[in-house]
Amino acid sequence: MIYLDNAATSFPKPGRVYSEVLRCMQEYCGNPGRGSHAMALAAAEQIYSCREELAAFLGLSAPERILFTLNTTHALNFAIKGLLKDGDHVLISELEHNAVRRPLHRMMAEKSVTVDVFPVLGLTCEQIIAGIAERFKPATKVVICTHASNVCSAVLPIASIGSLCHEKGIFFIVDGAQSAGVYPIHMKKMHMDALAIPAHKSLYGVQGCGVLALGERISLDPLLEGGSGVDSLSTEMPADPPERFEAGTLPTPAIVGLLEGVRSLRNGMMEQIAARERSLFLAARERLSSLGMQIYAPEYEGAVLLFNAPNVLSTELGRYLSSCGICVRSGLHCAPMAHRALGTPEGGAVRISFGRYNTLADIDALWRVLKNM
Ligand code: ALA
Repeated sequence: MIYLDNAATSFPKPGRVYSEVLRCMQEYCGNPGRGSHAMALAAAEQIYSCREELAAFLGLSAPERILFTLNTTHALNFAIKGLLKDGDHVLISELEHNAVRRPLHRMMAEKSVTVDVFPVLGLTCEQIIAGIAERFKPATKVVICTHASNVCSAVLPIASIGSLCHEKGIFFIVDGAQSAGVYPIHMKKMHMDALAIPAHKSLYGVQGCGVLALGERISLDPLLEGGSGVDSLSTEMPADPPERFEAGTLPTPAIVGLLEGVRSLRNGMMEQIAARERSLFLAARERLSSLGMQIYAPEYEGAVLLFNAPNVLSTELGRYLSSCGICVRSGLHCAPMAHRALGTPEGGAVRISFGRYNTLADIDALWRVLKNM
């Protein structure tokens, strides 16, 4: 099996991730924060280590502002619904995933929130910033955008967008689903007020856990109420993070997997992986072009390549590749606005996405299968 669907979830994981998840389940998976016995304390300690590791990794000084969620979508819902009030105006990019688009759609209906979209593709950083600035209104509360697209390798100028928001006193929420573990992130220097990321993609953890990292100046309403292990007599959630925002039992095995995944990116490993993914992109772009495939946004070079074969539905091509032992994603990738901006057909396109364990041999295998189609 050749796995080229790392933008959906990375596979395989580093050995230490598997072994620590298993060790946790077999040796110390008590309920963190819900007891003072050794197993509950061991789980809580590992969870705190993960908050510290992530805070350092993301340029955040307060580990307690690392909040664990179910996934990135949960984290984004949390930030969006916890921040927006009646009449607020929001700016989003044309590349947003349904994890941003759908909660906003609901807020438009329920809270008279208004949303405008700014263009990104084919524009310089200055043009993107100008496009955002010209859409600001007195009611603009927040800019929400992805750091890196999930359908092509476009990366947004996050630091510049953050500076603009900071200068105008507007909040800045970033969807880091595809960028965390690929591109350096420093929330403070990039003026991010909230960052939503998954454990299971380029941080090489497992499914079942996401993170909402909160900057210092943002305050949100909790999305969920429930047990927190502290202040049990009160009918209100505790006042301070992380307990204020983490109702219910945390997914300890997924959190220790995330901790090991982030540790595995230390000592320049993240940069090495990103460079390797880019070299695989270049090889794939060259081989697929030589076969007459249509490649979308080929000028953006990174871990994701989107293409179609002439006169073949993307879903059919995806099924064919699967039957040949190659895992890709095809269709609309939960980001229909991005597809419109890229000009793919209604049925979407085939996405290949690279991870740390892919090699040139994988690209050659894909090329052979497509050539013999
Ligand atoms: N958002 C993930 C993807 O792009 C699941 O495939």
